[in-house]
Amino acid sequence: MAILGILEYPDPQLRLSANPVTEFDVSMTRLVDDMIETLHASKAIGLSATQVNDQRQILVMDLSENAEAPEVYINPEIIKKAAWGIVEESCLSVPDIVGNVFRATKLQVRAQDQAGNLFERELSGMHAVCLQHEMDHLAGKLFIDKLSIFRRLSIRARAHKKAREKKAAA
Ligand code: NI
Repeated sequence: MAILGILEYPDPQLRLSANPVTEFDVSMTRLVDDMIETLHASKAIGLSATQVNDQRQILVMDLSENAEAPEVYINPEIIKKAAWGIVEESCLSVPDIVGNVFRATKLQVRAQDQAGNLFERELSGMHAVCLQHEMDHLAGKLFIDKLSIFRRLSIRARAHKKAREKKAAA
């Protein structure tokens, strides 16, 4: 297993839409294992393949206390959403930014596991919010896209400045 590099905004790769997984092969199970290891190493609750620069519809989450219950969703599709509310989000790909987003806090998702088996699950609270956040990544969207135009412009300016400084230092 390996810890993967995580892309950061404004990297244009974060804007790509992921493709459905059709091959449940060794390359895919290795990616899933590496994503889980990367998720745990980052102490985050969710990670999408898009963030590790792979365009397959795969996301992993772990909302347990001790990183002991990783969940894998391949080709996820939300079939029901309910109980909308404002929730606070952050993202490994947009460091140091926290923002309020309007999300469903209850949902039903259909996805496949590593073996390709279809399953359906009901999620609520942070679980539901995290899944929507990671599914947005798979569609090339970031949570900051949902913030006010003023907030977005200031985050964008800051990220571009940081990227320029990184480039200059390299
Ligand atoms: Ni994120």
